[in-house]
Amino acid sequence: MPMTSKPRTRVLTGITTTGTPHLGNYVGAIRPTVQASRDAHTDGFYFLADYHALIKCDEPARIQRSTLEIAASWIASGLDPEKVTFYRQSDIPEIPELTWLLTCVTGKGLLNRAHAYKAAVDKNNAAGHDTDADVTAGLFMYPVLMGADILMFKAHKVPVGRDQIQHIEMARDMASSFNHLYGEHFVLPEAVIEESVALLPGLDGRKMSKSYDNTIPLFAPAAQMRKQIAAIVTDSKAPGEPKHTEGSALFQIYQAFASAEETAAMAQAYADGIGWGDAKQMLFERIDREIAPMREHYQALIDNPAQMDKILLAGADKARQLATPFMREVRHAVGLRALSSGSTAQVSKTAKAAVPSFKQYREKDGQFYFKLVDAQGALLLQSRGFASPQEAAQTMTRLQTEGPAYLHEARALLEPIAPENEQLLAEMLNFLINSKKPVK
Ligand code: TRP
Repeated sequence: MPMTSKPRTRVLTGITTTGTPHLGNYVGAIRPTVQASRDAHTDGFYFLADYHALIKCDEPARIQRSTLEIAASWIASGLDPEKVTFYRQSDIPEIPELTWLLTCVTGKGLLNRAHAYKAAVDKNNAAGHDTDADVTAGLFMYPVLMGADILMFKAHKVPVGRDQIQHIEMARDMASSFNHLYGEHFVLPEAVIEESVALLPGLDGRKMSKSYDNTIPLFAPAAQMRKQIAAIVTDSKAPGEPKHTEGSALFQIYQAFASAEETAAMAQAYADGIGWGDAKQMLFERIDREIAPMREHYQALIDNPAQMDKILLAGADKARQLATPFMREVRHAVGLRALSSGSTAQVSKTAKAAVPSFKQYREKDGQFYFKLVDAQGALLLQSRGFASPQEAAQTMTRLQTEGPAYLHEARALLEPIAPENEQLLAEMLNFLINSKKPVK
């Protein structure tokens, strides 16, 4: 049976590690993302954006604690680190490395227009302060670091809040600039905005947000959650008086957890004049029904940070199997490469004889094979046997068109590559990709 060569959709998103997850994060991001991560046609990349956290927070203990809490929340909520790639941004040294390469193709003017930076500048100007007072270069560079997060893993789709759309567009700009200068290395990502997920109101009726101090922590002990739910603002209507569902924060939160039938029943209870105390009790019970089974798992994860370190390091390992060869590829592309390796520009103009080539053949065992040999006929890469010529051809074509990025995935189909040959092989594959492009 021929293998399908259609690349699976890569979905990637990061969570800045500065706070404790609350019900708004759960309903707006964690729950829909965990559901989406179970889609068999996508590969999920989810990471703790702790480098980004440093831009907003200079309390080391808080960064560390938040990283643990957020990681535990995602896993307790059902994210399966075996099925997705779940990692800590700062465990991937290739991310800051790529950030620099992207920095060099990003217009300063583009970054001047980033919303977060502009807001800080506008505030300074309005207050009569120096334009860049209290603005770190980290804040200014925020979109480039985010671009590296996304472009490193060739993400197709990036689920984010509306406030992040501009950053995804900037990542596309960086990818285009780089590709234009150095050849097609990056995939242009797209932002995905979930229209259907609820924006949860907080205790005071405004959007639930850490900055309004109106949140209900996702995994607070049940007694604390009950107490906080009791503090949700309502109007002063007495029991027996009919109540309005619209504009009722309590109702909206209920709806985010309840089925359509349960919501309809709650609307009826409002019309029938349910007392606020009873409505709050119903809300607590409904939320707790969903959260209680996860709470124990969460606590177990929090109590065992060494285990979490292990999970995250395993995730980083998985991520780096892609990041390390890809970084090698883009370093090569910009000219950070072995001095002994031929420059592609030069070679593409010289005799074709210098070009390494793929050869496909059949062995006595009846299986189909291919190999890559250099101009002198030395073996660079050897495949294992394939049952059909199509399978062999497909794998070979992907190596020719996707280069080192595909090499990692293809390893099971290849004879082991000696570590000292990795660099040369990556360069040869890159050369083959680049030599297929029209010379600029
Ligand atoms: N900036 C994002 C936020 O504040 C977090 C983030 C960092 C991110 N890197 C990312 C989101 C890459 C998506 C993709 O929400």
